[in-house]
Amino acid sequence: TLVNLADVLSDASRGSRGVGAFNVIQIEHAEALVAAAEETGLPVVLQISENAARYHGALAPIALATKAIAQASAAQCVLHLDHAESETLVDEAVSLGFTSVMFDGSKLEDATNRSTTRGVVQRCHDAGVSVEAELGEIGGKDGVHAPGVRTDPADAAAFAADTGVDALAVAVGSSHAMTSRTATLDLELIARIHDLVPVPLVLHGSSGVADDALVAAVRSGMTKVNIATHLNSAFTTAVRDYLAEHPSVVDTRKYLGAGRGAVQTETARLLRLLAGA
Ligand code: G3H
Ligand code: ZN
Repeated sequence: TLVNLADVLSDASRGSRGVGAFNVIQIEHAEALVAAAEETGLPVVLQISENAARYHGALAPIALATKAIAQASAAQCVLHLDHAESETLVDEAVSLGFTSVMFDGSKLEDATNRSTTRGVVQRCHDAGVSVEAELGEIGGKDGVHAPGVRTDPADAAAFAADTGVDALAVAVGSSHAMTSRTATLDLELIARIHDLVPVPLVLHGSSGVADDALVAAVRSGMTKVNIATHLNSAFTTAVRDYLAEHPSVVDTRKYLGAGRGAVQTETARLLRLLAGA
């Protein structure tokens, strides 16, 4: 079942629960994530990034496959466009039936980011689609991605009020694409931002954050938790092990199936961890 991001996050935020948001690159990711949501009875965000669309040559094929998998399931699934810098891609996602988009204007000049984000919010809300944004004025080019960058709580509150976004990505110590779970989060800052900003907060680059720190981040006020690299590690390790054990295998379903199973197991564990279930 496809559901709206704003609805899922406001429910979770009221209950002080975290919601896992995981990236779909191959169709096997979508199958594994939805199976994990079914297994746990918890909602899941299926996110497809602009980069993943570029890898496939277009957004529609992987998006429509993911949408069909979500619609065929009883699990609550948000279909979310992740890190879109292109307004054209945002509009395409809306017409493909996404229920949420992240407009990443962090590389734009601050005033342009605000006005562009506000326009995206208007168009998306008219279509019943939620919007997540990222602050452009923080940390310059790399926005929320750089480990040393921190979001100013008052700026975040002003940005949310100015743009009308449904969720806000903030910089609190994590950084994208880490393959070790060693990031240190500024929990006190999360709590201060949570106090001032009325919309649910998003933690990017959560692959670098250990289990106990993820739980603490949710307890301090984080709601949407984005994890990509960590699940790709689980996928790739399972494929590598399968191929090592079966050197003569040629059926792609055998080793991709092993990867898909590993992603389902780890996703179910993370969904329960974040939800405090
Ligand atoms: O938007 C996607 C996430 O922030 C994923 O980051 O690959 O470091 O977990 P990650
Ligand atoms: Zn991200």
